[in-house]
Amino acid sequence: MPKNNLFLQALNNETVSRPPVWMMRQAGRYLPEFIALRDKYDFFTRCQTPELAAEITVQPIRIVKPDAAILFSDILVIPQAMGIEVLMKENIGPFITSPIRSMKEVQNVLVPDVNETLDYVFKAITLTKEMLNDEVPLIGFAGSPWTIFCYVVEGKGSKSFDTAKSFCFSNPEAAHLLLQKITDTTIAYLKQKVAYGVDAVQIFDSWGGMLSPVDYQEFSWKYINQITEALAPLTKVIVFGKGCWFALPEMAQSKASAIGVDWTITPENARKFTGGNVTLQGNFDPARLLSPIPTIKKMVHEMIDAFGKDNYIVNLGHGILPNIPVENAKAFIEAVKEYEAK
Ligand code: CP3
Repeated sequence: MPKNNLFLQALNNETVSRPPVWMMRQAGRYLPEFIALRDKYDFFTRCQTPELAAEITVQPIRIVKPDAAILFSDILVIPQAMGIEVLMKENIGPFITSPIRSMKEVQNVLVPDVNETLDYVFKAITLTKEMLNDEVPLIGFAGSPWTIFCYVVEGKGSKSFDTAKSFCFSNPEAAHLLLQKITDTTIAYLKQKVAYGVDAVQIFDSWGGMLSPVDYQEFSWKYINQITEALAPLTKVIVFGKGCWFALPEMAQSKASAIGVDWTITPENARKFTGGNVTLQGNFDPARLLSPIPTIKKMVHEMIDAFGKDNYIVNLGHGILPNIPVENAKAFIEAVKEYEAK
């Protein structure tokens, strides 16, 4: 059991002296130490080299001191393992050389043996756990099948993902086959992460909010729920859906131990839509970390008051932005630690 166990206590609905805190994308470009390694090694080299991934994972633990670590990697290692070439291009972001757009292309996508294709991730977990020395728990993660589908069909990031959506609506059979292949790979991958010792897993549905509530059920939630059902007997599952507040009632009925919310919903409504006792995670507007430090601290305390200190994990409503001063990120974490004293 980690020495700092607040995060797992919150996932277990235990009463705590203060809520735990971590930040999505806490290993990132706002840290000069991260930039130093980024200048030396390209993105997927950092993901694929266990020593680098482990070092990058523990950087925020040393510097900003959150209550949990999240393994440095990317959601797009899954399509890579499935035989799809994914590049990370400067100023563009993820780039898929040959996007998947037909039944024939879907049929050629592999459901790989994760032990062969993603062993570097499992090695990174072993190394990270050694470096963490049981100080804080370690979170493993995967993208939701829909969010991964968005990239592999669209070919890159998008404001609307209309190519991915039109593939679903014009060729639902092929779309579902691809979503199922991604789901099967993800389940095997997350199970193996648990076997190597992660303490919880988070599913990132960054683009779920692109879908209407009805389409969300068919193309996203159905598959997230399969993953949650498969993993819940083995570990704690956190489901984060950006822009997915409309799906909170279903999420609350699922086997997820916590639900992540973005900043477009009030804590009161998030509690109401989830029935009251489910552990919630979020939802500080990442851009609000650009406020003066006293404002950040005041807003964090108000946010904890609104969610309540129990059944709650303090986080941002999405990943930290690259332009956040390290001092402001530290203040966000400190504000939560100071809450105890209030
Ligand atoms: O939270 C953490 O600290 C763990 C690391 C993590 C990364 N990506 C590292 C990363 C996590 C959890 C992710 C998940 C991820 N990757 C998501 C879901 C979460 C979210 O924020 O929506 C998505 C959609 C991706 C795909 C992806 N990878 C994008 C859109 C980008 C940004 C491209 C850019 O240049 O802005 C990446 C690259 C990436 N993944 C970076 C980091 C720290 C930044 C690029 C770099 O370091 O060179």
